[in-house]
Amino acid sequence: MSFHTIEAAPARINRSELAVPGSQPQLFEKASRSSADVIFLDLEDAVAPDDKEQARKNVIEALNDLDWGQKSMSVRINGLDTHYMYRDVVDVVEQAGNRLDLMMIPKVGTAADVYALDMLVTQIEVAKAYKTRIGFEHIIETALGMQNVAEIAAASKRNESLHFGVADYAASTRARTTNIGGANPDYSVLTDSDPDNGDRTIHWGDMWHYPLARMVVAARSNGLRPVDGPFGDFSDPDGYRAAAKRAAVLGCEGKWAIHPSQIDLANDVMSPSPEDVERARRILMAMEDAANAGKGAVSLDGRLIDYASIRQAEVLVQKADQIAMLEAG
Ligand code: GLV
Ligand code: MG
Repeated sequence: MSFHTIEAAPARINRSELAVPGSQPQLFEKASRSSADVIFLDLEDAVAPDDKEQARKNVIEALNDLDWGQKSMSVRINGLDTHYMYRDVVDVVEQAGNRLDLMMIPKVGTAADVYALDMLVTQIEVAKAYKTRIGFEHIIETALGMQNVAEIAAASKRNESLHFGVADYAASTRARTTNIGGANPDYSVLTDSDPDNGDRTIHWGDMWHYPLARMVVAARSNGLRPVDGPFGDFSDPDGYRAAAKRAAVLGCEGKWAIHPSQIDLANDVMSPSPEDVERARRILMAMEDAANAGKGAVSLDGRLIDYASIRQAEVLVQKADQIAMLEAG
């Protein structure tokens, strides 16, 4: 290990993160009863300019008056380049800040953006004498944000998670695609001809691999949760599941749900399977026996396990225990 220790953000289950437009209060009640781990009430891109003010009022009222159960509650404010942002922060934090766990910051570009918001939120929290601190979740969704992702991740003690905003990222990098978060047939390789029959096959690639992996590293090296963003085609559960799985394999802890039908898919994919948890517990037991016998590495089910296996197993078991606690209420 490095001498530098990484402080982990507060433990929070974040397998699914449901987006709910602030301008559609008729959706709030159902969202509050859903199985989403985190909900963000949106003031940004799901809300038309003429509805921004009313959406802000709806969100404040909903935070104060609805019972959201065990969920972590977040509000997505407007970007720092808009004049809506300061009122989003001032009104929502002043009037409902003690009901808010997180604030989602879209299109964050530099560490200075984070600093500015930290200052504003801190002043309001102190003035209102709130007992708890609002955490930040940043959407990495512009070329500038991705370029500065490491500095953004380290920019505030409030930082809890980084989210990959694939739709805006595609727009910002001018990627030639219009779907949200899915695969693209143009991002593929063509194999050489088969010597027997001359056939060539197309292998689709994951065009989002690089930005997602880069964001995961920036998040993890600062103790933050990496979370994958939206998958637009909510009539394609298989496509969603595949996208969520590849994000989980890369290290993401959760994925957005832009439709209630995606919540259970995310919770399922992002929870360690009972078999994985059972194996992790056996690894920990085997390593304990090995330590008692003065050994550093042993084999389990015909495979080598060592101290690195303990760390992997501990992460899994810890996560499973946290989920069990949340689900027990
Ligand atoms: C999310 O905000 C996205 O742009 O994908
Ligand atoms: Mg976006």
